[in-house]
Amino acid sequence: MLEADTSSEIDDRLGAMLGTSLPPAHAKLQQICREFADEVLIPSADLHDREESYPAKIVERLANLGLMGILAPKRYGGMEMDNLGLTIALEEINRGCASTGVTLSVHNSLLSGPLLHFGTEEQQKNFFPRLASGEALGAYAITEPNHGSDAVAIETTCRRDGDDWILNGTKAWITNGSHAGIIITFATVDPALRSKGINAFVVESSMPGFSVGKKEKKLGIRASDTVQLVFEDLRVPAANLLGEEGQGFKIAMHTLDGGRIGIATQAVGIAQACLDATVKFAERHEMFGRKLADNQLASNKIANMATRTEAARLLTYRAAMLKDAGLPHSREASMAKLSASEIANDAARMALEVHGGAGLGRQNPVERLFRDAKITEIYEGTSQIQRLVISRHVRPDRG
Ligand code: CAA
Repeated sequence: MLEADTSSEIDDRLGAMLGTSLPPAHAKLQQICREFADEVLIPSADLHDREESYPAKIVERLANLGLMGILAPKRYGGMEMDNLGLTIALEEINRGCASTGVTLSVHNSLLSGPLLHFGTEEQQKNFFPRLASGEALGAYAITEPNHGSDAVAIETTCRRDGDDWILNGTKAWITNGSHAGIIITFATVDPALRSKGINAFVVESSMPGFSVGKKEKKLGIRASDTVQLVFEDLRVPAANLLGEEGQGFKIAMHTLDGGRIGIATQAVGIAQACLDATVKFAERHEMFGRKLADNQLASNKIANMATRTEAARLLTYRAAMLKDAGLPHSREASMAKLSASEIANDAARMALEVHGGAGLGRQNPVERLFRDAKITEIYEGTSQIQRLVISRHVRPDRG
């Protein structure tokens, strides 16, 4: 595990914040992910988007690089990196392909995160080796057809039956759902108990009563897998209860605090990709007898994109570093996600404006980036939910 207790390590982490240097392990991980994005993801992202096909071969290659176990303990085959490391890796992957980015983010952050924090040694021993090696893909199932933002209102039920729990219900919009082997799932003993009635389970897709429902066709991140999951008398061993009975909602929220840093990171990656594409285009194209990049309207947009992307990156690093330090980070994670997702959407709009008609063409990456950016304002808590979380933190006596 990276330890932040030597002065040089602290200097390096400060350097990460200031954009001057990274701790060596982080710099190496960044390099690996950067090369993978440039050599593999950027050339194939448009094809996967057009075919709306889950990039199974690419996920296999991510596993070979060890990226399916970024947070997982070394003793179970993982890299045992911290959240700053995860953030740095995810930015590069998302810069290359946001569909691959969310696949990796959900796996590492929404599944490894709670397993690390709330899982027993037995559960970690059981699940981490398969997750870290990429043998099993992870998913996180809280949303239901009738309940998204109001997560407390979920209707999927769980009841104890001897050494098992029996789950019934339908989960919706589940990233990685049809390919996942291991899914963190939330269900209630009684909806009337609201947050106090919710339990968290580690479900395996091989368990009797588990099936995959409707596949969603989406505006963006089209190569990521998004489906409904159906539980019909799904039998889950009691040993797969994550945390204590009744603690499920807090586990869900704690996990989303980390997940939101992951989506902020995705937004930073998309914003950076928009900036890169725009600079490249503006350097190559001429208008009114000079390079587009020398045109003040285009250079203003480029400057705004660069400055805002950097600001979003710093907010995101800060949230990750607070999490690594074991400090409260719910407010900062929401601020990072709110800000970075708006910046990514603005960057995509500005990129299109600089590209003009060329940006509308399917052959141009900014058309995909424009569609991919939108989801960052919606999943893992809409921008309205992030504002609710932030405002509650700045008004602690809101009642
Ligand atoms: N960490 C730990 N505990 C927390 C917490 C946190 N961040 N936030 C709240 N809690 C606790 C509260 O302290 C409270 O506990 P007590 O009753 O003991 O005091 C309990 O949880 C209930 O909290 P609230 O009263 O704040 O609950 P609420 O109903 O008012 O709503 C909410 C909270 C913030 C609106 C929440 O429902 C929410 O975040 N909604 C958005 C859901 C969401 O983000 N869904 C994303 C789906 S996952 C996804 O998109 C993944 C994917 O596929 C990519």
